[in-house]
Amino acid sequence: MERKTGLILALDVTDRMEAVAISEKVSGYVDAIKIGYPLVLSTGMDMISQLSKYAPIIADFKVADIPNTNRLICEQVFKAGADAVIVQGFTGHDSLEAAVKLAKEQKKDIYVVTEMSHPGALDFMQQVGEGIAKMAADAKASGVVAPATRPERVAEIRKIIGNDLSIISPGVGAQGGSASDVIKAGADWVIVGRSIYQAEDPAMAAKKLVDEMKEFI
Ligand code: XMP
Repeated sequence: MERKTGLILALDVTDRMEAVAISEKVSGYVDAIKIGYPLVLSTGMDMISQLSKYAPIIADFKVADIPNTNRLICEQVFKAGADAVIVQGFTGHDSLEAAVKLAKEQKKDIYVVTEMSHPGALDFMQQVGEGIAKMAADAKASGVVAPATRPERVAEIRKIIGNDLSIISPGVGAQGGSASDVIKAGADWVIVGRSIYQAEDPAMAAKKLVDEMKEFI
């Protein structure tokens, strides 16, 4: 994924026309559009190819299965037109490696969830986040997903993965994180949903974030 603006739209709307309209409005400000279960379950897998004309598509299915099933899922998602898939890391090295191997064969990307951005991530995930980051680096994944709500953790994760992997970071805006703070901490992209798609003027909201990050990108 090429970094031009540092912004990824999380498009968690559930209406096809709204999804297309928002994508059209913000396409000049985003490097990718992340879609997940809310949009795909309500509209269908063809939403991926429909939106891919506006930006590369990251499929946030948080894939978390045995190696063979991870491979089968990623195969279908790439076939549908996605450029990247988000997978969970807690399932272990073999599950991750199966997804990465397929992605590399198809010149696509896998991003691995380390610890999540919500408060409940402290219950279990944070304890294993650093180990997952190291595993993602060893597996040569394209990058990891790390929380904009905790820039200090993003900085820790950056130290572990070095500069070969990217960090994409959700939690800006509605969840309380700051775009410029997390970019300064070491993230390559911020992932922003509600603050853009619920804004009265989504393009203006996206532009504001891009302007805020500009000097740190
Ligand atoms: P909002 O509306 O909060 O949307 O800006 C954030 C988007 O990112 C997803 N999300 C995560 N995905 N690891 C992930 O892989 C995380 O820690 C995480 N936190 C939020 C969320 O589902 C939504 O699409």
